Amino acid sequence: MKRTKIVDIFAPGLIGSDVSVMGWVRTRRGNKHVQFVALNDGSTIRNIQIVFDMQRFSEDQLRPVTTGSSIHVTGKLVESMGKGQTCEIQAETLEIFGTADPEIYPLQKKGHTLEFLREKAHLRPRTNTFGAVLRVRSALAFAIHKFFQERGFFYLHTPLITASDCEGAGAMFQVTTLDLNNPPRLEDGSVDYSSDFFGKPAALTVSGQLEGELGATALGAIYTFGPTFRAENSNTPRHLSEFWMIEPEIAFYDITDNMDLAEDFIKYCVSYALDNCRDDLEFLQQMYDPELISRLEEVVKSEFVRLTYTEGVEILKNSGRKFEFPVDWGTDLQSEHERYLVEEHFKRPVILTDYPKEIKAFYMKQNEDGRTVRAMDVLFPKIGEIIGGSEREADYDKLQQRIEQLNIPMKDMWWYLDTRRFGTVPHSGFGLGFERLVLFVTGMTNIRDVIPFPRTPGNAEF
Ligand code: 4AD
Ligand code: MG
Repeated sequence: MKRTKIVDIFAPGLIGSDVSVMGWVRTRRGNKHVQFVALNDGSTIRNIQIVFDMQRFSEDQLRPVTTGSSIHVTGKLVESMGKGQTCEIQAETLEIFGTADPEIYPLQKKGHTLEFLREKAHLRPRTNTFGAVLRVRSALAFAIHKFFQERGFFYLHTPLITASDCEGAGAMFQVTTLDLNNPPRLEDGSVDYSSDFFGKPAALTVSGQLEGELGATALGAIYTFGPTFRAENSNTPRHLSEFWMIEPEIAFYDITDNMDLAEDFIKYCVSYALDNCRDDLEFLQQMYDPELISRLEEVVKSEFVRLTYTEGVEILKNSGRKFEFPVDWGTDLQSEHERYLVEEHFKRPVILTDYPKEIKAFYMKQNEDGRTVRAMDVLFPKIGEIIGGSEREADYDKLQQRIEQLNIPMKDMWWYLDTRRFGTVPHSGFGLGFERLVLFVTGMTNIRDVIPFPRTPGNAEF
């Protein structure tokens, strides 16, 4: 008999038929007449109840069926008399794939803390919480491709190994095959990278944007969706050393087009999760965040506020609020400031634009005022910055000047500048941190809990 996934067992029409299911035991309870097993196979948050009539099965047969063991059951699917489930399986055969010694299997029935589960990241996907989060994550990834593909964007694969620092923050992980104990050296004592693998210093990318711009100024509209790496020592609930980023880049787009796209994009993804991940979101709402679904619905309905950085700073300064980090024009906003604007002042998402050029990257289009650039950060409740983007500087001379001012080695940038030398066009783009989106949609509070195997300073286990 062909296996049926548990998610499909609950579809109407199967009652009365013989089914075959496979999965991991969540719980077993009962007495000497009847035993009940809750079985989960990861296809849904819901367990199927399996009823063992102990006239057909021996206690010895059932003994290895403990939490975490893996089994195969065939039997008849019937309507359930019990509360909390619509149907159950009356077991006819039982095959045990693998046992899970109750003395040592870490995921026993009782609720574990998220901190405990982080140490057991190899097994936590088998819990309700991580099953739900990972299914939502997968659905969101699909929604992202769907959104862009439906709008004629091309998926561009930008390199993970690169020699350029897009954000100019110097937070890159070096990639080398040199012998760290005894690297070749130049006469002045510095490392001779000409004999390194790539013939020059290389690192893991912090962003696919620069290559994304090459794609956009040829294909018109592209998006990337891949891992990015940041070697910053940030131990916060919103930073990872390895995270996934989505970066659309579009020719003939100005900052307003870019804001419209960002707003449509996030709303589309959130709606997709509401429409396709209902069971999982309801579970997460019940367990962690009573306002989860209404917050998601709110964001889909709301019109994002659009505000300049200068206006934002005025609001913060006049708020009468004592922030941990004082705010003044020219300072970078901290998450406490972003969240004040979103959660307390406006009570909806905010797109903040026109930041001082000193606190933003070299590639952003300069405004006529000479002080600000056409940047846009999308700020979200509970999260703070979820998207960062801008209109790009399309003028060769202005861009070159900025690169010089910031001491970015020009010899590494010639190919980027060529887009402005040959057929330059206005263009814009942004980056969405995928885990921050998953964080928002699942209502989880620590970014380590929305990626299967988090990489953070001091942690590369699993
Ligand atoms: O604001 P960022 O640094 O912008 C860029 O990298 C641009 N090149 C994007 C572009 O215009 N194409 O990063 C973009 C987003 C942030 O808004 C945030 O959501 C996420 O990436 N992000 C992180 N997420 C998790 N851990 C980190 N350490 C992150 N750093 C940034
Ligand atoms: Mg940013």
